[in-house]
Amino acid sequence: MKKRICLAVLGLLVTVVGFLGISVEGKAQPIVIRFSHVVAENTPKGIGAQMFKELVERRLPGKVVVEVYPRSEKFTDEQAIVGLLLGDVEMVAPSFPKFCRFGKSLQIFDIPFMFEDVAEVHRFQQSKAGLMLLSSMEAVGIKGLRYWDNGMRVLSANRSIQTPQDLKGLSFRIESSHVFHSQYASLGATPRVLPYKLLPDALKTGLVDGYENSWSNILASKLYLLRRNYTETGHSFLGYMVATSVSFWEGLPEDIRRELERTLDEVTLEVNRLAEEKALSDKNSLLHAGLVEVISLNKKEKQEWKDLLGPMSLQFTDDINPEILLAAKQAKYWRGPASLVGD
Ligand code: LMR
Repeated sequence: MKKRICLAVLGLLVTVVGFLGISVEGKAQPIVIRFSHVVAENTPKGIGAQMFKELVERRLPGKVVVEVYPRSEKFTDEQAIVGLLLGDVEMVAPSFPKFCRFGKSLQIFDIPFMFEDVAEVHRFQQSKAGLMLLSSMEAVGIKGLRYWDNGMRVLSANRSIQTPQDLKGLSFRIESSHVFHSQYASLGATPRVLPYKLLPDALKTGLVDGYENSWSNILASKLYLLRRNYTETGHSFLGYMVATSVSFWEGLPEDIRRELERTLDEVTLEVNRLAEEKALSDKNSLLHAGLVEVISLNKKEKQEWKDLLGPMSLQFTDDINPEILLAAKQAKYWRGPASLVGD
């Protein structure tokens, strides 16, 4: 009996000690941040995740360890967001459409032509409403930490695309967005939602004819080997929300959270600088190597796309918090103070 009580007390002690992050030898265990993403290491996000790991581990030695899982090694984005809530991962950085199940206002980033260029996206993100959007999913347990850039999406298919009519009859891989779904359906194409890691096989097997993505992903994931034609429509920006779970973030000691915030600020600047640089340099590398053909739409040609996609977008703007919608529209005109993200 005495022995059983002793064992139970010992068990309880081990549980309590484990909960407090202390090993049985009495040493404090580091906090582990598992950071899952789906793209290659040599993309702005891939480089940013690695830089975050290196800076954090240098600044908080023995206190925090960051494990980076790139290329959907651990989870797809869809799984990772749920994984945040289940405690299977602590940090993620999915593109905006992947969050739309958890907060409809995030659809602001999916509406075609909502933002004309990256400078407009930045002005919106730094507005009060843009910052509010980061905390808009806290009720479901997701905390947005920072916005990271990639670049404008370009359209690609197995035939050259100049006008919206050229999409008719083609199937396109899309991210899990209701807006993207409607966009393709309204142009007579068939949208297919697929995780990023299945995109190369879907193109290889002909499951889809086309896709849209950023130049850095097209280069890093070698998608240019699978499709040659690209069109710069300027309809959509590929960006990310770096996110964690409310419970993980609030459970961190104050000094550690502060250091992670400071590091995130620094990494964000670098990711966004790289995104701007790579959007141009990765495209040019492919062009100069003769691996892709690129059509850039002029103002009049773009207008034709806008006219067709505008009415379709209206059904989604109703779901977006009016304050957020207004701030996004104002980002077109407002030229505020020099931005934090290097505009
Ligand atoms: C996609 O799914 O196409 C992108 O979100 C991938 C990424 O993370 O850039």
